[in-house]
Amino acid sequence: MDQVKCEQIVDNLFQVLIQGSGQDYIGERISQLEHSLQAASQALDAGADDETVLAALLHDIGQFTTSPDQKQMLFDAAALNEIDPGAVGGEVKQISVGVTGHERIGAEYLRKLGFSDKVAVLVESHVPVKRYLTAKYPEYYEGLSGASKLSLKYQGGPYTAEQVQEFEADPLYNLKVQIRQWDDAAKVVDLKVPSLDYYHPMAVKHLLQQNNIASST
Ligand SMILES: [Fe+2]
Repeated sequence: MDQVKCEQIVDNLFQVLIQGSGQDYIGERISQLEHSLQAASQALDAGADDETVLAALLHDIGQFTTSPDQKQMLFDAAALNEIDPGAVGGEVKQISVGVTGHERIGAEYLRKLGFSDKVAVLVESHVPVKRYLTAKYPEYYEGLSGASKLSLKYQGGPYTAEQVQEFEADPLYNLKVQIRQWDDAAKVVDLKVPSLDYYHPMAVKHLLQQNNIASST
């Protein structure tokens, strides 16, 4: 995958985010795009590495796929990276029936586009981390919105003591919790943060690096 192709993939992916910019962030007074940019900006402020910043920016990409246009753009982005159209079509169909598992759908897309495993894992974890935090900190549960409390039930409820221990042994544990905290705080109305353009070169550089790693192994 060369520079031009990486840029095309990022162009398409960011178009999906722009198209979703009018979409409300569930139950909040900001758009999905503003929410994503605020999550990424907190990662930048914390001095996080590029993979973590990109994961914060793209953590809800699985939510940006509700209109036929957005699905087509995701499809085009995937096609650029020579992904099996059948597999992508199958996932798009799955997206159309609801947002259940948007974290898994998002992670899978990012993997297919060529993002690193770390980015995908961090995206995929932002929902299960809620199960950890509600088990560990009862006050965290109290602070959740009604919609979030309800979705927790469908996500399997708070972790058991054993699952909490297992999660804390994960090398990415701290980053996973941080992404969730940035996600939770990314709902400020009219906050000035860097625009999507800021992240374009970072995403292209990341895809190129991944490609170089893949071709040297
Ligand atoms: Fe989010």
